[in-house]
Parts: sequence; structure tokens; C-alpha cells
Amino acid sequence: MTQSHANTFWLTGLSGAGKSTLARALHASLDVHGIASFILDGDEMREGLCSDLGFSPEDRAENIRRLAEVAKLMNRAGVHIIVAAISPSAAIRSQAATIVGAQNFFEIYVETPLKTCIDRDPKGYYARAMAGELKQFTGISALYEAPLAPAFRINTASATPDASARSLTEFVLGKIER
Ligand code: ADX
Repeated sequence: MTQSHANTFWLTGLSGAGKSTLARALHASLDVHGIASFILDGDEMREGLCSDLGFSPEDRAENIRRLAEVAKLMNRAGVHIIVAAISPSAAIRSQAATIVGAQNFFEIYVETPLKTCIDRDPKGYYARAMAGELKQFTGISALYEAPLAPAFRINTASATPDASARSLTEFVLGKIER
């Protein structure tokens, strides 16, 4: 008998795109369906496992590598993982997919226009980045490479948060073996 394997649902997008909010909504919906999941959030991981890392391209690659290794282990333990991290380049996302295992890795693009993220600026980071106080800020002074062929795409600017969360949950449920 082949054992079913848990998956990693990898949310990529700009800071302020809505990744963490969607991750929490997805986690809550999976809970309702009796499906165990866990969130690895870039912001949170950077307070612990990744607290030695900054935002240079090398440090971001290492950050993503660690998230992917943790996701892989937790998938093996049968827990679906929801990653919420900018993961700005195609190369580091593809490395993450290789670590996790391509068949269990789903790239989800949280596609929120930069202007919307700047307008939201929930942490005041964009203002600081535009004033030159925060260096290497994604979308302002560091690159974000949009995924060309994500497994799923969510445009939070054209749908309500509830509708975005519902469509994401539907997609994810379709990928989970039950
Ligand atoms: S990633 O690029 O390595 O994937 P990650 O998702 O872990 O980034 O962390 C991004 C979060 O760190 C942002 O949401 C923001 O709160 C904070 N942050 C602080 N400095 C930067 C920066 N220079 N670029 C992007 N995000 C930053």
C-alpha cells in the first residue's frame, strides 16, 4: 500500500500581499475539515530558527532552504505545511520544491500589486524603504520575480479576503489525499 504523503503549500508574494492572513484562513478551514496543518511564516521563523539571517540574496536563500527542510520533515510526519514567505526568486522557490519533493510542493502566488502593498503598508516598512532607511526591501530596492507558472494564483486586489480564502481552500482540498 502506498502511504499518503502530506503536502507543502507555498505562498509567495510581496510583503503586505496578504500571505499570512491567507495562511491563517487556510489553516482554520483545514482544521474544520479535520485536516492537520501547520504554518511556517517567514516573519515568525525569522525570530527563531532563522534569527541569524538578514535580507541579502544569500541570506534569503538560506532562509528559504531552512523553511523547505522543516516543511519536508513535517510533511513526512503527516502534517500539511503552509509556508508564507516572500521567497523572491524563481531559483530559491525551485530549490524549495526540490527539497520538499516536486510532487508534494504547490507554489501559490499571492498576486497583490506593489501599489496596493505600498498603500496598505501594515508595518510601515514600505515608507521606510522608500525613504532609504530600510535597505534591500523587496519590491523597492530588491527584486521580486513573479512566478511564471504557479500551481495556483490569488489576486487579493480583485477579490474579498473571504473569497480569496475560500478559493484557496478549495484548491488545497483538491490536492489532499483523503
Ligand atoms: S524572504 O525574502 O526571505 O522570503 P521573509 O518572508 O522570510 O522574506 O520575511 C519577510 C518579512 O520580513 C517582511 O514581511 C517584512 O515584515 C520583513 N522585512 C524586513 N526587512 C525586509 C526587507 N529588506 N525585505 C523584505 N522584507 C523585510
